Amino acid sequence: MYVNLENQTSKDYFIIMGISNDPNLQIPTFLLVLFIYILTFGGNLTILLLVCLDHHLHTPMYFFLANLSIVDMSSTSITLHRALVDFIIGDNTIHFLACMLQMYIFAGLTCNELLILMVMSYDRHVAVCNPLRYHAVMNHRVCLTLVIMCWVVGFIQVLPIVVVLSSFTCYRSNVVNHFFCDPLSLKKLICGYTYYLELSIYINGVFDATCPFLLTFLPYVFIISTILKIRSSTGRRKAFYTCSSHLTVVILLYTTLVFQYLRPHSMINLDSNKLFSLFNTAGVPMLNPLIYSLKNKDVKAALRRRLKRT
Ligand SMILES: *[C@@H]1O[C@H](CO)[C@@H](O)[C@H](O)[C@H]1NC(C)=O
Repeated sequence: MYVNLENQTSKDYFIIMGISNDPNLQIPTFLLVLFIYILTFGGNLTILLLVCLDHHLHTPMYFFLANLSIVDMSSTSITLHRALVDFIIGDNTIHFLACMLQMYIFAGLTCNELLILMVMSYDRHVAVCNPLRYHAVMNHRVCLTLVIMCWVVGFIQVLPIVVVLSSFTCYRSNVVNHFFCDPLSLKKLICGYTYYLELSIYINGVFDATCPFLLTFLPYVFIISTILKIRSSTGRRKAFYTCSSHLTVVILLYTTLVFQYLRPHSMINLDSNKLFSLFNTAGVPMLNPLIYSLKNKDVKAALRRRLKRT
């Protein structure tokens, strides 16, 4: 049964519940989010500066990594930074348009991240399977075109969902049980018959994620079969080494996405879902620079050179 609260004023603004509904946990969660935000922003800024400043890292792989850092910094800023500021100011209302814009930018950046990781997978494929032609194939123009395409396609792909969601006029409540305007939480507030809306979100979401998923993991079939053909074990290790950071990040990201969006309905508990999405919005962007700097000799060496100089 749907209670129809055809209340037009409720469409003007939303109230964002925040990460924790428990008053006793407000300060600890604020500090946790602040910590995650600082770590994420600092880590990604470090990667970005290292890649820009250190000419040893001027290769396609690290350019893509730096671009990924920009995406990560933007997506945590649009969600966590706003949540932190709202908490400090004590104002948790958000205008309808701002909410839609936040949702659009966040969804677009997430899509963009999947696409950049897909391009990085192609880059690794060329590097391992076709090393002699690597610099010819991944020349600067190609790389730049690929990166621009990721931004454009990412933001176009998520447009339908946002347009459909923003076209609804009736909401059961204007309290969003989340720490930002998350599409799934907003969808729960819409009153009336939402079967087609859910179907379109589902189809769109699955399509947006499946294509990059297949195109990210398919190159690894070829990469691994090429690596297995290498005779010397040091050569094999070296080839695998160049892909391992990327593979780790990709597996982590898709695992969190599956847990967040493809769980059966009965398993969705909103509070644990918020923790999941805290991990999803911040976990991967936070771990990304760590994985690359801990596992990657080039990044570690560049970091050491920088630290020595200062
Ligand atoms: C993003 O990628 C492009 C193409 O590889 C590169 O030219 C550009 O420098 C990268 N951006 C950053 C900030 O590294």
